[in-house]
Amino acid sequence: MLRSWLAVATAGRARARVAYWRRILTLVLVCATVSAGAADVPARAAIASAHPLATEAGYRILQQGGNAFDAAVTVAAVLAVVEPYSAGLGGGGFWLLHRASDRKQVMIDARETAPAAVTLSLYVNDEGVPVPGATLRGGKAAGIPGVPAGMAHLAERYGKLKLRQLLAPAIVLARNGFNIDSRFARIAQVREPLLRGGINTARVFLDNDAAPPQGYLLRQPELATTLERLAEQGRDGFYRGPVAHSLVNGVNAAGGVWQAADLADYKVIERPPVRFNYRGATIVSAALPSSGGVTLAQTLNILEAYPIRDARDPASAHIVIEALRRGFQDRLRYLGDTDFVKVPVARLIDKAYAHSRAATINPNLATPIDALTITPLAAVTESYNTTHYSVIDVDGNRVGATLSINSWFGGGLIAGDTGVLLNNEMDDFSLGPGLPNLYHLLGGKANSIAPHKRPLSSMSPTFVEDGKGVLVIGAPGGSRIISMVLFGILDYLNQDNVDLLSIVTAPRYHHQCWPDQVEMEPAGFSDAWRATLEAKGHQLHVVSRKWGNMQAVFKANADGAAQAASDPRGFDMGGY
Ligand code: DON
Repeated sequence: MLRSWLAVATAGRARARVAYWRRILTLVLVCATVSAGAADVPARAAIASAHPLATEAGYRILQQGGNAFDAAVTVAAVLAVVEPYSAGLGGGGFWLLHRASDRKQVMIDARETAPAAVTLSLYVNDEGVPVPGATLRGGKAAGIPGVPAGMAHLAERYGKLKLRQLLAPAIVLARNGFNIDSRFARIAQVREPLLRGGINTARVFLDNDAAPPQGYLLRQPELATTLERLAEQGRDGFYRGPVAHSLVNGVNAAGGVWQAADLADYKVIERPPVRFNYRGATIVSAALPSSGGVTLAQTLNILEAYPIRDARDPASAHIVIEALRRGFQDRLRYLGDTDFVKVPVARLIDKAYAHSRAATINPNLATPIDALTITPLAAVTESYNTTHYSVIDVDGNRVGATLSINSWFGGGLIAGDTGVLLNNEMDDFSLGPGLPNLYHLLGGKANSIAPHKRPLSSMSPTFVEDGKGVLVIGAPGGSRIISMVLFGILDYLNQDNVDLLSIVTAPRYHHQCWPDQVEMEPAGFSDAWRATLEAKGHQLHVVSRKWGNMQAVFKANADGAAQAASDPRGFDMGGY
């Protein structure tokens, strides 16, 4: 069979959309620079994203001579249109880059910032009790978005094509509309109350005040106009002028405290990623204000003290859970935005420190966490969403990007006539001791709210480099992102012949120190597995739905062949 130079994957839709992809792949073959008549031409570039329209648009940009960074801008922009419930211009995120020409590796930090006028009293009353919904809905919930600035930065500094060209596919889809898929329809249904009661959200996303059915043509002309301004004027098209004006007014009318300067002064920050070695492989992952890289490093460093191979083998699972417990305990104690607080990163990711932490693990018993004096409060139960995509091009440039507006449809606020759905990322700050956020995460002073500060994140775009090649991996899922990526790394390192689909499909469990329980995906683990873990004192909790929507690409060192895989959970809506 003749294959294209581009491996594509999108949210497990492959089976359902064979004809669709065959059409695209045929198109690639016509245009690709592969030697005609080759019997089996391996893919050289790969894109995995949560939506076929985004993957397809990214691939066309590669075809037009763009590099992985160009494609990453296009994929982000199209996702903002076709997956507005997960990420978009009103949100933030992290792009992890590897530039092949000089091997530069950098994390583009486009995380939201707290507005200058923020105070804790917006979210917590005098008695220290959280104001219901303040971090989750409306104007107070929204941080200053970073995604538009991130896209402009990526295009200007790393891309080959013009921002106008990169945003064009998203503009067309926003203006002409696209037919929503079953995933969109179901998410809109779950979030119908938010969309109905939100600001401008019923007008934009509902069909006669009801969640639209699959196949509904969703047009977003206002978002198209905002994207056009960004395309024409670069970041100023969003952060200054009429869009900025509408954003400030819209947010403040919904209870927010934004000022024009919050937007005008927003800065993308280039940060060195967290880098460490694990059993001979190099892991490159997100730096603070994402906890991802540090917590992954701590957890894997602890695991290095043990002969762990399969994280799902019950004896190993005990150690993995204990390593996660310790990693997340330090997340809670120490991690926050390093532009505001001192975080002992070097010490935390030091191998000797990990070995001292490993020495506290009892191989037969779960470690109690009563050293952490925590008053559990009922956390808000709600669904959440974010998006990850991975790109690798023919030259070996790579992008892993995790972008978010936090929970599904963010804070239910579209500012004025901008079409921009705003995030509720302020919920990722810690409101005080014993006050968990949406992901049941506790935090310390390091992650307290302050003007201009960036909330601590778990988004973990990651590269794994070993003798086999290079893996780009990541997922949405709040705090569970870290354990998902951990499993992705361990599974990949266990494979001699890389089978990406098995990596993104494998069952998951999670522990984050507090609450002191092991969450497990339904139907993922046997009774014997459970009995072994319970005998060691672990509290097991099978959750109702699978989680995650992992997107991975891999390029082999030996022949440059690339492959892509999308988590089937993204398609079947078993999880999110
Ligand atoms: O930055 C974070 O860690 C969260 N706001 C990410 C949210 C998320 O992944 C929700 N996804 N399912």
